[in-house]
Amino acid sequence: MYKSIRAAVVGSINMDLILNMEKVPDVGENVLGTDYGYANGGKGANQATALARLGARVKMIGKVADDTNGNKLLENLKANSIDVSGVAKNGSQTGLAAIILDGEGKNRIVVYEGANAEIDAETAVSDIGTDVDLVLLQFETNESVVIDCVNHAVKSNITTVIDCGPAKSFCLEKMQGATILSPNESETKALTGIFPDSDENVLKAARILEERSKAKYIVLKLGERGCALWDKTELTYFPAYKSNVVDTTAAGDCFTAALALEYVKSGDIKKACDIGNKAGSIAVSRMGAQGSMPTLEEILNI
Ligand code: ATP
Ligand code: RIB
Repeated sequence: MYKSIRAAVVGSINMDLILNMEKVPDVGENVLGTDYGYANGGKGANQATALARLGARVKMIGKVADDTNGNKLLENLKANSIDVSGVAKNGSQTGLAAIILDGEGKNRIVVYEGANAEIDAETAVSDIGTDVDLVLLQFETNESVVIDCVNHAVKSNITTVIDCGPAKSFCLEKMQGATILSPNESETKALTGIFPDSDENVLKAARILEERSKAKYIVLKLGERGCALWDKTELTYFPAYKSNVVDTTAAGDCFTAALALEYVKSGDIKKACDIGNKAGSIAVSRMGAQGSMPTLEEILNI
């Protein structure tokens, strides 16, 4: 179904260190963890993996170091049939995310950017080229990389989807005209100053995001509330699917990848929001980032 779609993902590649605990520590408090493990992560690599699991032909563009984590992460991308010819291996140190996860599956994340902050914008633009159907970006690289890649993709008439994670106040005025701009709640707050906790605030924030980014569609990810679509005339809510939440890490990555792919395929933004919700509900029911990404069959079975 998505097999003929060619996607380029420009973004971060991290090793995730996941520490599980019942309750996260307050300032000065010391708590016992229940277990820990390493998982393949990074918003860019997570979204590339989600696209590949759903059947798309994916090229990853980013940077790691020639170190143990970098080599492991590259091998994993290749194992997911992702073209890694756009991933440079000359970074200073591969990105690392320390994720603390509480008993309710809610996370707090600290990211050391390392090589992700060393991606060269000009090289990324040239690696995208013009022969793709979708360019997917996040905010876990330098702002200049996002700006140059969005401007290139928009100018080349390629469907351009921006996932605004993690929460940063990037200059949306310099990356205008994308097809979809999709922040989560905290990213919406960072970009607009408004936390989307009521209908009124969702609409206010969506209008500001549209005004600043001139994106065709604004899709707010609202966690267990699902998502909201603003298409310049109408605000539509899509409720989340019921799920047994284990770990919310990368639910947003999974949502945005599925949303983008369905939009490229059908051009139907409402259907794409629904597919995003289905994908997100599966991701939260599983531990880890890339390991929690669903297949197309799993989504269609909901
Ligand atoms: P991340 O933890 O990766 O940063 P996020 O904060 O970017 O995630 P969320 O808004 O939390 O993104 O979740 C993305 C999507 O996943 C939601 O829009 C929804 O479709 C789905 N989702 C999240 N939480 C739940 C839940 N508790 N039950 C069902 N679906 C959920
Ligand atoms: O969106 C989840 C991701 O954020 C994790 O995999 C971690 O690497 C951080 O980048």
